[in-house]
Amino acid sequence: MDETSRTRILDAIKRLPKGVRSHIETVRGKSAQLASRFGLDEAKADLAALAHDVCRTVSGPDLLAMARGFGMPVTGIDHAVPVFLHGPVGAEVLKRDYGLDDEEVLSAIRCHTMGKPGMSGLDKTLFLADKLDPSKTGRYPFIREVDRLAGDDLDQAMLCFIDHQVRSFIQEGSLVHPAMIAARNDAVLSLKREA
Ligand SMILES: [Fe+2]
Ligand SMILES: [Fe+2]
Repeated sequence: MDETSRTRILDAIKRLPKGVRSHIETVRGKSAQLASRFGLDEAKADLAALAHDVCRTVSGPDLLAMARGFGMPVTGIDHAVPVFLHGPVGAEVLKRDYGLDDEEVLSAIRCHTMGKPGMSGLDKTLFLADKLDPSKTGRYPFIREVDRLAGDDLDQAMLCFIDHQVRSFIQEGSLVHPAMIAARNDAVLSLKREA
């Protein structure tokens, strides 16, 4: 990715509403901490955090139309909760229109909301940094526990977050995205291997 691409991404971020911009700055800070703690590529972690919500304010119908236009698989869950698509659609827009060509960064952006099977350290860093924004405490009252665990082990933190989140989805009668279950199973398997 060249400097022009970065400048264009920065310009796109500047056009987002203040609330999203401030969330992005918080995610960049948390992402930097986690990347440094776990020896990950800090420049990639920062770029992923910077660009992850580029499509966060796109409407549900537009996200669905864009996903279809890109030839991406669109499931019944996406129709019911189109906001889940802002990661995958955002990654595709960044690749096609902004010249972001780093597959590791694109992967983290794609799966930052729901996770996916086989997540890399960078994927987990962005997923957790996105959730650990203190302004989301109302939505995720368990984030302090997740934050504490994230200082030691990304898989423990992933498992803690997903378990709380899935429990609350079930209590609310909400859908649970299969990618989140796949991410949970991976975290369980990787923790078993470590034990
Ligand atoms: Fe997001
Ligand atoms: Fe976000």
